[in-house]
Amino acid sequence: MSYETITVEQRPETHEAVTLITLNRPKALNALNSAVLDDLIHAFAAYQADSSQRCAVLTGSGDKAFAAGADIKEMSEKPAADFYLDDFFAPWTSEIVRKTRKPWIAAVNGFALGGGCELAMMADFIIASENAKFGQPEIKLGVAPGMGGSQRLTRAIGKSKAMEMCLTGRMMGAEEAERANLVARVVPHDSLLDEAMKTAAMIAAMPPMAAIANKEMVNAAFETSLDQGLIIERRIFQILAASEDKAEGMAAFVEKREGQWKGR
Ligand code: CAA
Repeated sequence: MSYETITVEQRPETHEAVTLITLNRPKALNALNSAVLDDLIHAFAAYQADSSQRCAVLTGSGDKAFAAGADIKEMSEKPAADFYLDDFFAPWTSEIVRKTRKPWIAAVNGFALGGGCELAMMADFIIASENAKFGQPEIKLGVAPGMGGSQRLTRAIGKSKAMEMCLTGRMMGAEEAERANLVARVVPHDSLLDEAMKTAAMIAAMPPMAAIANKEMVNAAFETSLDQGLIIERRIFQILAASEDKAEGMAAFVEKREGQWKGR
C-alpha cells in the first residue's frame, strides 16, 4: 500500500515486528489534514490486523516537527456547519485510538502543537527528543483544542498546568514535559528514533496478548472508578491466567530459559 502523506515501514535490523509510521508533510510541518487522517486510519488498521506486527512507532519527518497541528489552511476554508455536521475530529479517537488495541509509541521530534500534541497524547506513551515542544495554541486562532487536548492534557498534567497551556497557548519544552508527566522519557535529538524503535522492540518481544491486556488495563484507569477499574484488572488477569503464553512464561522462568510466545 502506498500513501500520500505518510510512510510505513519495518526496520528488520531493530525488530521485524515493529511498524514505523512517519508523518510526511515536512514542508507544512506535518500539519494534519484530511488526507493524513485517511492515511493514518488505514495504516493503524493495517497494523492492528497484521499479527506479525506487535508494536508501532509514530514520528514526524524532517527535523523540525512531529506535527504543527490540524491543517489551518484546510480548516479556514471549511463552512462552519460542516464542522458540526461531519463531527469533525471524531475519527481520530473512534478510528485510531479505540480500534488500535496493540501498543504504539509517539516519538516526538520537534513541534507537537494543537492537533500534533493531541495526536502524540493518543499514543500509549510519548518519547520526546530534547528539541520537542508541546502546546495547545488553538486559542490564538479563536478556537480551542478539538482532538482531545482539553481532556487528555488535563488528565496527563493536571488542571493548573493544562489550563495555563490552553489559555496562554505557550509551548512547553521537553524537560518540562517530562517533569509534568506528559512524556515518559526525553532523549538526545539524534537518537530519538533509535530509542523509540528499541523501546518498541522490547514491547514487541513481550507476549503479545499480555501487551494488549496491559494496555487495556491502564487505559481503564482513565475511564472508570477505582472499584470498577480493579474489577477490570482482575478479570483481565484471570483471562491471561488461562493463556498458553502464561503457561509458557511461567515454565520458562522456572526452567531459566527465554519464553516462546504463541500470542494466545
Ligand atoms: N496548518 C497548516 N500549515 C501549517 C501549520 C498548520 N497547523 N503549521 C505550520 N504550517 C505551515 C506554514 O504555513 C508554512 O507553510 P508556507 O511555507 O507554505 O507558508 C510552513 O508550515 C512552515 O511554517 P512556518 O513558516 O510558520 O515555520 P516557523 O518555524 O516560522 O514556525 C510554528 C513554526 C511556530 C510551529 C508555526 O508554524 C505555527 O505557529 N504553526 C501553527 C501552530 C498551531 O497553531 N497549531 C494549532 C492548529 S489548530 C488545531 O490543531 C486544532 C485542534 O485542536 C485539532
